[in-house]
Amino acid sequence: MNFQLLRIDLIAVCPEIFDSVLNSSILKIAAKKNLVKIEVHNLHDYASDKYRHIDDTPYGGAAGMLIKCEPVFRCIESLTAERHYDEIIYMSPDGKKLDQSDSNQLSMLKNIIILSGHYKGIDQRIRDRLITREISIGDYVLSGGELASLVLVDSVVRLLPGVISDSESALEDSFQNGLLEAPQYTKPADFRGLTVPDVLLGGNHKLIDKWRQEQSIDKTRKLRPDLLVD
Ligand code: ADE
Repeated sequence: MNFQLLRIDLIAVCPEIFDSVLNSSILKIAAKKNLVKIEVHNLHDYASDKYRHIDDTPYGGAAGMLIKCEPVFRCIESLTAERHYDEIIYMSPDGKKLDQSDSNQLSMLKNIIILSGHYKGIDQRIRDRLITREISIGDYVLSGGELASLVLVDSVVRLLPGVISDSESALEDSFQNGLLEAPQYTKPADFRGLTVPDVLLGGNHKLIDKWRQEQSIDKTRKLRPDLLVD
């Protein structure tokens, strides 16, 4: 089957953080199958001085350093000169908190840029002029956006048709239907006296589906009641 290729350009101050994750498991398989093309750009390569500075002190005085406009504009403009990007995302704790529907929506796009911040953040003019969307992975502050970018990339790429061979499994994940997943068991049926619910061993798929749906609702009510409030 022919699936649309998703291109993701990752821009970062510390791109070496990406290496092991991009070269393992699902992300590696997806790239090998030509379902995603991930290009990594080191922001230092777009600095204009010989020391490759990409940060400077904030105007008005404050602690920490900010990523400067110039390298980011140069990098993003060189990419947008080549092709149209559907979204230019900045990973930031200020952004919209990532959820499954964001990942689903991003998985349907063609070209995405993801900028990871570092230090105390980025010059506001980058956000005003270049960024189309800001995404947070949670209400805590990481020392850089690289880990957050990887979380986003993983959650998007695993949804691309053809990435997970059992095509239904990504659709049945927790959150896809707004509920947590029902408990799952594998062999043996009895482990040190801990048994698997009879219904799963009976082979009646109607009953199994009903049991899973009930478990799913029960578990969501107990662990994440906020997901049930409409
Ligand atoms: N950069 C630093 N902290 C972050 C967070 N929580 N989400 C996204 N990007 C970040």
